[in-house]
Amino acid sequence: MSFPKHRPRRLRRSEALRNLVRETRFTTAGLIYPLFVCPGTKVRTAVSSMPGVHQQSVDQIVEECREIESLGIPGIILFGLPESKDARGTSSTSAQGVVQRAIEAIRKANLKLLVITDVCLCEYTDHGHCGVIANQEVDNDATLPILAAQAVSHARAGADIVAPSDMMDGRVAAIRAALDENKFADIAILSYAAKYSSGFYGPFREAAQSTPQFGDRRSYQMDPANAREALKEVALDLEEGADMVMVKPALPYLDIIRRVRDSFDVPVGAYNVSGEYAMVKAAAQKGWLDEQRVVLELLTSIQRAGADIILTYHAKDAARWLKP
Ligand code: PBG
Repeated sequence: MSFPKHRPRRLRRSEALRNLVRETRFTTAGLIYPLFVCPGTKVRTAVSSMPGVHQQSVDQIVEECREIESLGIPGIILFGLPESKDARGTSSTSAQGVVQRAIEAIRKANLKLLVITDVCLCEYTDHGHCGVIANQEVDNDATLPILAAQAVSHARAGADIVAPSDMMDGRVAAIRAALDENKFADIAILSYAAKYSSGFYGPFREAAQSTPQFGDRRSYQMDPANAREALKEVALDLEEGADMVMVKPALPYLDIIRRVRDSFDVPVGAYNVSGEYAMVKAAAQKGWLDEQRVVLELLTSIQRAGADIILTYHAKDAARWLKP
């Protein structure tokens, strides 16, 4: 019945045939490029563990945004390296903060880019945790108003979408309520709903200077062994008012992306994180991998797993390679 009647190779004989029957058509339409904003002017400091990625002052960020837009990438996500840190991450809510000023500058430059902001405390606290500390523990409920104020300050500066990455319980509801109260009912929330406690964030913590000074993030980020719990986290965030949800990291969690895609009818994002990027870059630099080929393969696989939106440090390279 099957062979020799069925020969799957018939449809693989030429690029024209392969192209015709291709199931996943990877494009730049869902890509988001992460950027790190630091104080000063004309600052562009390379992040050693993430070749091609820089900490940049607002003026440089605007220049880079022009390039990103011209490459056909629809949006960016901003992370801040503030001038000062304290126990409560107070500087994260300031209208004069680096992220807030970067958003305003991008808006003034009249770019069409979607501006997403990471909402979290870890870059702004002197202890490096994603929430405030009480009795040596991260205090969930005391963190919520600060996250909400931060999100409102991003919206006020002109952000299109806020993306809470802290993993506090109830933060989506707190942020949604604060946005609505402040007349930002139209600002969307992309929640890092299933964010795992992952070793793959290592290089990011150098880029964002956000390494916890004691302990780790296991009491708030998810256990890598859990999949059903990811569906619960997503359900809760949607109930609280998230418009879109994200799985993070991407490659070790393709099964989670697929399960979230199949279980919920909302846009699903995936964050192809710093460590995933660093692995590819390091191997490519040694000549052990063909960078273009593996990057396009892995981004296609994240889309094939079910992600509509992919946050990735490879976005600019991928967009260049895809240009006709
Ligand atoms: C902040 C945050 C982190 C990342 C995104 N937002 C770091 C962390 O939770 O430690 C990681 C991104 C990356 O590794 O590329 N909470």
